[in-house]
Amino acid sequence: MKKLRVAIIAGGQSSEHQISCISASAVLAAIDRSKFEPILIGITEGGIWIDMRQQDFERGSDGLSYVPENGEKLVVDIHGIKDSEGRDLGIDLVFPLLHGAYGEDGTIQGLLEMAGIAYVGSGVLASAVAMDKSFAKPIYADFGLKVADGITVHKDDWNNSKDLEISKIRALGFPIFIKPARSGSSRGTSKVKDESEISDALEDAFKYDPKVLVEAAVLGREIECAVLEIDSVARASVLGEVRVHPPHEFYDFEAKYLDGSTTFDIPANLPESIARAISQASITAFKALGCEGLARVDFFLRQDNQIIINELNTMPGFTPTSVFPALWQQTGKSYSQIITILLESALSRKRSVIR
Ligand SMILES: Nc1ncnc2c1ncn2[C@@H]1O[C@H](COP(=O)(O)OP(=O)(O)O)[C@@H](O)[C@H]1O
Ligand SMILES: [Mg+2]
Repeated sequence: MKKLRVAIIAGGQSSEHQISCISASAVLAAIDRSKFEPILIGITEGGIWIDMRQQDFERGSDGLSYVPENGEKLVVDIHGIKDSEGRDLGIDLVFPLLHGAYGEDGTIQGLLEMAGIAYVGSGVLASAVAMDKSFAKPIYADFGLKVADGITVHKDDWNNSKDLEISKIRALGFPIFIKPARSGSSRGTSKVKDESEISDALEDAFKYDPKVLVEAAVLGREIECAVLEIDSVARASVLGEVRVHPPHEFYDFEAKYLDGSTTFDIPANLPESIARAISQASITAFKALGCEGLARVDFFLRQDNQIIINELNTMPGFTPTSVFPALWQQTGKSYSQIITILLESALSRKRSVIR
């Protein structure tokens, strides 16, 4: 049987470029080569598509990989993906292993829809909605899930009427979290304990997004669930608990990737009834947004056992030690098996845009 040619697309224009490169290297190493023929495509931080078939990632001064700016360019349009000489790469399906803006937000999904190329994961709408927490939260609430109290602050409004915005923020009480509506990896996210810290926290969040969420801090545990569609049925993994340790006050960028201080309990130590409720809430959230393929759904569990959904990631971190694969390994699927399930379900799914 002819092997299916899978383009693994890595890098991208978001602040999570390097994380995507780590995920892509791992998928390349683990993909089942008896069924699939992988090729690597890079997207530079500037948005140029690079043919990585003969090219390795480069390493930055921080030791992390990135897509080289000077690689062989690809030509990408609605007629497909071609090399610089106009030869079609003959791709059967795409694994857009990209996080954040222009990757996880429906934009590349739209391009692939237009080009008629099958791809792993959620379609245009689900990707876009999940990416923007200010749109996703009211949908979760509409499906009976609890979300953190909060407001949205736009950069223009902040610049034009600081006093009004401060008064709205003050009404939430303290501590609060200030975070970009469409970011990831905790970039631009701050815990704010009093009014004097609001301005700096907002300015930092505005570096990533002109739309920012201000939320009442939820005090409790952070529980994550990985949803994987297997034979067209969305299934919840066992749950994991993320535990951050001092000096980190929350799950910030350093705690996520850099200093190795975070503990993951897989499975999370939870009473059966609460675990079941969180698993069900994960499936509810997945369906509420119309997700496909995979998602990691993150919750807070308050001390009074109230379950609050924080966010859903349609292309969660995918290194072998990332939470999504780790949860599924504990649920009985190896890293290679997860990749095969995702690729096969991408081939069988309908196109997300209705005619
Ligand atoms: N309302 C909140 N209450 C308590 N902690 C929060 C709240 N919002 C965010 N956090 C903390 O900040 C982290 C990052 O926020 P999150 O909304 O998950 O953004 P990202 O998309 O960058 O992961 C969370 O994992 C959590 O530790
Ligand atoms: Mg998060």
